[in-house]
Amino acid sequence: MYEELEEIKNICNNCTKCALCETRTKVVFSGGIANNKLVLIGEAPGYWEDQKGEPFVGKAGQLLDKIFECVNLSRKKNVYICNTIKCRPPENRDPLPQEKQACRAYLDKQLEILKPKIILLCGKVALTSMLGENIGGITKVRGKWFDGPYGSKMMPIFHPSYLLRNASREKGSPKWLMWQDIKEIKRVYDSL
Ligand code: URA
Repeated sequence: MYEELEEIKNICNNCTKCALCETRTKVVFSGGIANNKLVLIGEAPGYWEDQKGEPFVGKAGQLLDKIFECVNLSRKKNVYICNTIKCRPPENRDPLPQEKQACRAYLDKQLEILKPKIILLCGKVALTSMLGENIGGITKVRGKWFDGPYGSKMMPIFHPSYLLRNASREKGSPKWLMWQDIKEIKRVYDSL
């Protein structure tokens, strides 16, 4: 499993399939730990991820780590993290359709090698990449289980940067909903 991922990572590090290769500092292939239970797919690298070559290392990433910690999960022990696209779009704009398409084979390969039982679709870009543009908004589908590749279960969840913009923890708020979702994810994780 690890050698196969390393092979793809090496290819990805030299990728020139789209124009983002001209502006990237580092390719952000993955973070966390390769495993067959839990994978999170985010959107795209931001400024700090591009600098360090690691996904989710900025403010949103720190919040994501805290959310996992609440249910005793962590990227050191249990979670493999990757993004829909592996290079930072300038000014953190949304990835373009041709960028997503160019990068798609790397994501597919990561999932094919790991065959994770649970895939978390973190935010709108990961949601639509895996479930199509017509699936509906993240607010409507978050917290629901969908069938994914290789017999996996996929759950859309809010992106942590959305939670950072919504401070309330009241019942029904995005943070409160995330808490419900992470508890459900942990329940299924423990049943595997
Ligand atoms: N946001 C993402 O979706 N992915 C990252 O790696 C960092 C921020």
